[in-house]
Amino acid sequence: MANRIILNETSYFGKGAIREIVNEVKKRGLKKVMVATDPDLIKCMVAAKVTDLLNAAGIDYAVYDHIKVNPTIENVQEGVAFCKEQGADVIVAIGGGSAIDTAKAISIIMTNPEFADVRSLEGASPTKHKAMPLIAVSTTSGTAAEVTINYVITDREKGRKFVCADPHDIPVVAIVDPDMCASMPRGLCAATGMDALVHAIEGYITKGAWELTDMMHLKAIEIINKWLRKSVEGDMKAREEMAIGQYIAGMGFSNVGLGIDHSMAHPLSALYDIPHGVACAILLAPVLKFNAPATGERYREIARAMGVEGVDSMSQDQYRQASIDAVQKLADDIKIPRCLSELGVKEKDLEFLAESALADACTPGNPRDVTAEELLAIYKAIY
Ligand SMILES: NC(=O)c1ccc[n+]([C@@H]2O[C@H](COP(=O)([O-])OP(=O)(O)OC[C@H]3O[C@@H](n4cnc5c(N)ncnc54)[C@H](O)[C@@H]3O)[C@@H](O)[C@H]2O)c1
Ligand SMILES: [Fe+2]
Repeated sequence: MANRIILNETSYFGKGAIREIVNEVKKRGLKKVMVATDPDLIKCMVAAKVTDLLNAAGIDYAVYDHIKVNPTIENVQEGVAFCKEQGADVIVAIGGGSAIDTAKAISIIMTNPEFADVRSLEGASPTKHKAMPLIAVSTTSGTAAEVTINYVITDREKGRKFVCADPHDIPVVAIVDPDMCASMPRGLCAATGMDALVHAIEGYITKGAWELTDMMHLKAIEIINKWLRKSVEGDMKAREEMAIGQYIAGMGFSNVGLGIDHSMAHPLSALYDIPHGVACAILLAPVLKFNAPATGERYREIARAMGVEGVDSMSQDQYRQASIDAVQKLADDIKIPRCLSELGVKEKDLEFLAESALADACTPGNPRDVTAEELLAIYKAIY
């Protein structure tokens, strides 16, 4: 089967990149913008950086700001109704993965109304039409939702999150402006940065990985290892580097998939609202340990990209352990918790979590086949 790469039509990078939104809206002849964001980004005036530009350019817009962290089906449906009511012909999503993912689902349902139940979009969504134009402005440096063909929605009723993958939903324009990420508090910066690292590592060892995505993932690991600690400390040069690093990881994993770290992280957020990046980070070392036998020489390159010295003279066991130690050290340095019990997870739920992870759309991409018992053992090991 041929390898496929799908990326944004256009992306803008660097300080001040948000100014390009005005040109893109005008150039495309679009008349009414639906701004999709969350209430915190309104409060901390991050969304205003974009709406000020729309005001100055005389572009008509309406703001939908009800998006929740770990966005729900109801959120998407309310957003679709808002978009119709306002007669918008383009969505500008401002936020982290939650706002951008919600906007992706809204834009896809606007042109494929037969999926209005949202649940039917799970997995490889069989939509027929390109989504309504979406301009995605990232305000966190982690999910890379602005460049991926995926989005993740929470089904509160069933206590699960589901992943939708659809080439029709990729934002036509991605804006990666580090000024939009400048106000991230330390904890958010740490969690989202670890999410990006997990994308790069899972994308590098997933079954579909190939030369082009390997190049992206290894570069992303290198950048994230070099800059994440400083970014968490608030260094703005480091935040610029992280904004690029997480985008490069997204260019890769969006095209080849992920693995069980994400499958296991999704139900943790669905059930307990644990931030996605924290859930991913806490699972990384034990998942790497489990996957090691199915990864050939790959951990040597992960260790090298993580800055481990002398990897060429190490035995397989040594470089595998060195790569796991290096990612755990990074997580520890930026104060990611190590135990699920610290995050309010209940022991009685572990079996449900394992079943839910087994059914997740990311599981088939894992390099090593896995059973519900093995997933349960990983959860127990970090409980
Ligand atoms: N589409 C994809 O490919 C993909 C990949 C990974 C994760 N996800 C999904 O993305 C979601 C997580 O997204 P996230 O980690 O980016 O966080 P988020 O969007 O959930 O935001 C978390 C909180 O941080 C605040 N925030 C965001 N940017 C800020 C800033 N610059 N300054 C101050 N506060 C800010 C938000 O207002 C919100 O309260 C999860 O639902 C996850 O499943 C999607
Ligand atoms: Fe993720």
